[in-house]
Amino acid sequence: MKATCILPLLLLLTGGSTKPKEDILEWWEETIVYQIYPRSFKDSDGDGIGDLNGITSKLNYIHELGVGAIWLSPIFQSPMYDFGYDISDFYAIHDEYGTMEDFVTLVNKANEFGIKVILDLVPNHTSNESMWFQEALKGNEKYYNYFVWDDGIIDENGNRQPPNNWLSHFRGSAWEYREEVGQYYLHQFVIGQPDLNYRNPDVVDEMKNVIRFWLNKGIAGFRIDAVNCLFEVDKQLFGGVYPDEPIAIGNDGDPGSHSYLDHIYTKDQNETYYMVYQWRDVIEEFRADDGMPRLLMSEVYASIQDVVRYFGEGEIKGVQMPFNFDLITDVDDSSSANDIKRAIDKFMTYKPIDQNANWVVGNHDQSRMATRYGSSLVDGINMIVLLLPGIGVTYMGEELGMVDGYVSWEDTVDPAGCNTNDPINYVKTSRDPARTPFQWSAEKNAGFSTADKTWLPVATGYDTLNAESQNNSRISHLKVYQALNELRKSKVFRHGRYESLALNNDVFAFRRWYKSHIYVVIVNMRQTEHTVDLTYFENVSGNLKVAIVNIQSDKVIGQKFKATSVPVSAYESMVLKVD
Ligand code: NOJ
Ligand code: MG
Repeated sequence: MKATCILPLLLLLTGGSTKPKEDILEWWEETIVYQIYPRSFKDSDGDGIGDLNGITSKLNYIHELGVGAIWLSPIFQSPMYDFGYDISDFYAIHDEYGTMEDFVTLVNKANEFGIKVILDLVPNHTSNESMWFQEALKGNEKYYNYFVWDDGIIDENGNRQPPNNWLSHFRGSAWEYREEVGQYYLHQFVIGQPDLNYRNPDVVDEMKNVIRFWLNKGIAGFRIDAVNCLFEVDKQLFGGVYPDEPIAIGNDGDPGSHSYLDHIYTKDQNETYYMVYQWRDVIEEFRADDGMPRLLMSEVYASIQDVVRYFGEGEIKGVQMPFNFDLITDVDDSSSANDIKRAIDKFMTYKPIDQNANWVVGNHDQSRMATRYGSSLVDGINMIVLLLPGIGVTYMGEELGMVDGYVSWEDTVDPAGCNTNDPINYVKTSRDPARTPFQWSAEKNAGFSTADKTWLPVATGYDTLNAESQNNSRISHLKVYQALNELRKSKVFRHGRYESLALNNDVFAFRRWYKSHIYVVIVNMRQTEHTVDLTYFENVSGNLKVAIVNIQSDKVIGQKFKATSVPVSAYESMVLKVD
């Protein structure tokens, strides 16, 4: 047996948990997961739409970032009502993105760079153009049972109405009537995304097959989409009627919007967790085969108590990475240092002690990090994401400080925007601004595409804010990001302990230490200057040496400061090493 095979075997035999954390880290525990939204990353064939060969052509860039894993938003066959989250064939590549051969090439080339590929698993729904739904419409019973149907009700005027008040995430009723069937089907997202019925064992088997199919193509795991919507309440418990959801306390008074209701019957149902634990068993089959652990990441916006349930319960394992969205949902540019500390401590406090934290500040559904926090905080937030204990997650462009693009009403394509039917207020819900094309260079279309028109407009300002120019300058967000990533590989950041302080309302700081090595990271959330005393941290005294600073800092690498009085300028962030 080759020496490299012994380690995974040992891990399997010991369950991996008896070794001290610092001896062995699995690949996913020390990586950065870099999210690629394929439609917007790089267009290789000039149709204005990003594609797989485009990603392959940029693997070198990703490698130089120091990233070990890329997660691709859906690349499967889709009519694109929800830009790939409406899948018509779970086993095929979407033609605008390339072919299965292109995909295999991407995986192989990525592996040559030491980059693992993670795909999006979208288990909650299919597309209404899927063979499954089409067969259901034709009366094929097997596929009829793949979906959630209901007769609806007849109102006092004799008109047919949806079964209850449930709402779609993208406005309006979550039920759609189909003449062919004479019933309503449930769609928690767009009309073109019928919900799958997880009370049907055939659906459960089918999704496990989907997982196996892609793992057999060499991928390293999945991000699991909208997983807390998987189950709806069992209507048999309510006399065969799906009950109305109560109106949410503190709703914004808009009865069409999803947040108008408290989703007690359509979200976070108990059965969901056990389904996810079964998926963990499936990925473990593959690990048992070749020793390589696969990664599962769950996308759930819910209470922290519900989010951490995805880790598993006791001996039963779930996902290794329930996304921690606290730095998206709980804080923004108006937050104080105390708010940041509380948001960070939250996940650390609730996660099981032997599991890893993870840090997410953006994705394709949220306004970009640089827009939410302000461009002055880009490096500071990246310091938090990459230097806190746990897994760092970067949404493409965060390393450059890319901001939301302006997308006019005419150019808006996201159903979350279009369904408002409101040329003024669509901006509040449209996700297009966070999906504008990646800014590679100052060339036409920011070097994203040679097309005359790209699927979404490129954000203005790309002539100066782009990967090429940041790569060519000595001081840039990109250079800071790369330096952070280098530092992250040291023992202090891989294995070291962690403690945080709000030094005052504005300055958040944390200490990482391993044996006698100590670092302090400081982020000033405000424009106000301060002088801070770092000896509030235990074992921090004497001098500290500047290791990394944000781009607007007036400090020089290697410069020394007394621990008792470190000057911090407006929005300054820095990594300091105790000398
Ligand atoms: C979450 C995805 O991130 C989002 O883009 C999508 O619209 C919904 N789930 C539905 O799949
Ligand atoms: Mg293309």
